[in-house]
Amino acid sequence: MIGIFDSGMGGLTVLKAIKEEMPSIDVLYFGDTKNAPYGSRSREELTALTIKAIQLLRSRGSRSIVSACNSVSASMTVSLFDTFSISSAQSRQHGAEQPEHLIEMVGPTVSYFRESTARLLLCATQATIDSHMYQNAFEMIGKSVDAFAIPELAGAIEAGSNEEKIERTIRAALEAATEQGMSVQNYDVLILACTHYPLVTPVFQKMLGKGVLVFDPAIAVAERVKKQLWPREMADGKMTFLLSQDSEPFRAFAAKLFPGSAYTIEVVS
Ligand code: DGL
Repeated sequence: MIGIFDSGMGGLTVLKAIKEEMPSIDVLYFGDTKNAPYGSRSREELTALTIKAIQLLRSRGSRSIVSACNSVSASMTVSLFDTFSISSAQSRQHGAEQPEHLIEMVGPTVSYFRESTARLLLCATQATIDSHMYQNAFEMIGKSVDAFAIPELAGAIEAGSNEEKIERTIRAALEAATEQGMSVQNYDVLILACTHYPLVTPVFQKMLGKGVLVFDPAIAVAERVKKQLWPREMADGKMTFLLSQDSEPFRAFAAKLFPGSAYTIEVVS
């Protein structure tokens, strides 16, 4: 059984892509709805929340973990687990066991564009943008990416806000980006580097028009999961959702993304 975590419903977009590739994988999903949104949190807070999430999933039997949250990559904790396979002193102190596999968002997403010549623009939470994780990773493969934050968008989606509010939030960020010299018509691709954002892809696409491709990194992450965890994680296709606080919008999105699928939702304290 693989464990997937996010601040809330954003990781459902990654889960959906994984399930499309591998329907018979068993998944335990943790949405930290009580502490969402993560994108405005400090690095220290993100470290502590990441360790807690991994600990919960490990204690419920997930040996392979997918961090479906870009913002926690900003804390570096996930990358340290992933890249160097080390347990940080803090994780040992909290008693978190090392997952056997940990897949995160940044590496698979950046690798996906290795051969691309497209002009790339990326949007994400403030924590992700400020960490420069993506900007540095693209530089490592010799590519440049321009990046801007969309403050409050993940929180608005998590709260189940209406389309008008979502559109207003995106428009304000696009205007601010234009003022900083990042005008969308100068790019071929907009990378949605927050897993909440693909839940409102039609709104992005409507605002950007046909000239800009809106890219959901879930595709790249699902490919990585398949490469690393398949077929060893082949099972019965069960889905269990753990939430740190009950959430109607989460339930609504889960029902919309997985119609007709059996799953259970449990609120954990
Ligand atoms: N979905 C997460 C991400 O990819 C977290 C967003 C948030 O909670 O602010 O960054």
